[in-house]
Amino acid sequence: MAILKIARMGNPILLQRCEPVPDPSAPEIRRLVADMLETMEEAPGVGLAAPQVYVPLRIFVFRVPGNRGGTEPVPSTVIINPTIEPVGEEIGLNWEGCLSIPEMRGVVPRHIAIRYSGVDRDGAPISGEASRFHARVMQHEYDHLDGILYTMRMTDFRYFGFNEELDKIAERENEARRQPQQASA
Ligand code: NI
Repeated sequence: MAILKIARMGNPILLQRCEPVPDPSAPEIRRLVADMLETMEEAPGVGLAAPQVYVPLRIFVFRVPGNRGGTEPVPSTVIINPTIEPVGEEIGLNWEGCLSIPEMRGVVPRHIAIRYSGVDRDGAPISGEASRFHARVMQHEYDHLDGILYTMRMTDFRYFGFNEELDKIAERENEARRQPQQASA
């Protein structure tokens, strides 16, 4: 196992369409997937696509931590040669970050619910439905396989910035919300 180097925005590897994996159970794919999981967990991140570690193949890993509201936690999961399609028309807006665009985040529209299929690290078929944060992280990672970064999906760049600055605003807003309660206590 190894921690892999992550490509940052501006590197052309992040803009190319990736190739399907011919043999998902091949030893080199197994090794790559193990390294991707370790790299995602160490970063720490909630998702990582193969092109982010300089491998232009259709593979991503992701996880849903327990503290993400509205979604059941999902342990670290691998999907090879995935397909994704929206379920219903509903679009939601929420913040996203990316290990290839460090220290920043932006608000991105995504389908609220999706259906997915693909194969797991043993080459066995998997499929299912995902919603909310789970669906969002899968759409974000899937986009990487087509050379699309979350910034390319954004529609309002007022909601894009450095975490450090945005965290200050969030703190001030929380403070303002707390004050009336303190006054009435
Ligand atoms: Ni990303």
